Amino acid sequence: MARNLCVLGGTGFLGVHVVRAAIEAGFDAVAVARRPGPGSQGARFALDVTDSGALAHFLDEHDPSAVVNCAALARIADCDADPELARSLNTVFPARIARLAGERGIRLVHVSTDLVYGARPAPPAGFAEADEPGPVSDYGRTKLAGELGARAANPGVLVARLPLLCGDSGERGLGASDSVRTSVARGERPRLFVDEWRTPLDVADAARALVELAAGDLAGLLHLAGPARMTRHELGLRALRAAGHARPEELVVGVRREGLHAGRPADVALDARRARALLRTELREPFA
Ligand SMILES: NC(=O)c1ccc[n+]([C@@H]2O[C@H](COP(=O)([O-])OP(=O)(O)OC[C@H]3O[C@@H](n4cnc5c(N)ncnc54)[C@H](OP(=O)(O)O)[C@@H]3O)[C@@H](O)[C@H]2O)c1
Repeated sequence: MARNLCVLGGTGFLGVHVVRAAIEAGFDAVAVARRPGPGSQGARFALDVTDSGALAHFLDEHDPSAVVNCAALARIADCDADPELARSLNTVFPARIARLAGERGIRLVHVSTDLVYGARPAPPAGFAEADEPGPVSDYGRTKLAGELGARAANPGVLVARLPLLCGDSGERGLGASDSVRTSVARGERPRLFVDEWRTPLDVADAARALVELAAGDLAGLLHLAGPARMTRHELGLRALRAAGHARPEELVVGVRREGLHAGRPADVALDARRARALLRTELREPFA
């Protein structure tokens, strides 16, 4: 059987790592994005995934054995600024790719987010798959609707909910740790919340887990997350320490949310015990 894996959104923070992990796992990988540009790893293909005719044509031409969907409008502020694009990419498109994949017998892993939670406090062990979601932002709402649409269109789809991602963004300043490092390198003192809790995961571990899942046949919902619940402030300190800063607490300012950021939940810790039991890929504590 052909072992080619298509990464929709394969040039983004997560997608680049999924392409790398796929190649390491022995797949031929193709990264799809609107502006894919040159890349050192895998083939690249320019496509607007919201163009359903072009998407269907692409799948027929490339005939991938699996698709990992990382294409999204993935920032809260961007979704607030352009709700129509958020709905198109995060809600309408996931149902469409799920249907197209199902019709062609293509395995689909669809990436979602911990921000489908937030309306109520996290349980002590974090939110498990069986816990009812309740988003508080347009980003979370459109992603949740995308999950539901994808699963309704194709019951074989696996929806993987990811936590806050950190790790190497190829000097692009993306993700929860490179954004802090880049800001410090510019001479700024980033303000990091001491009361916003996440279960962060290194983007490379997330990518390896997604590729392992793409090679399998698990359907439904799965939470991927690091084993430790920590604040953004703690994560920032860890990232700076790992980058060689001896006194990281002098480089950032710990701030409280003080009722700000209604669309950003205080605690969306995920319980990833099920994934840990199922996967060979280790979901490690970042910068431990
Ligand atoms: N980053 C995190 O901390 C985090 C946490 C939890 C979940 N997630 C989820 O992980 C996934 C990836 O997030 P990310 O942070 O890697 O996002 P990102 O860096 O913004 O990457 C988004 C990717 O989607 C592509 N894309 C956007 N619109 C497209 C279109 N119309 N047609 C084709 N490609 C398009 C982008 O390339 P072009 O712009 O060239 O099109 C890019 O490759 C998302 O589903 C997100 O919800 C991320």
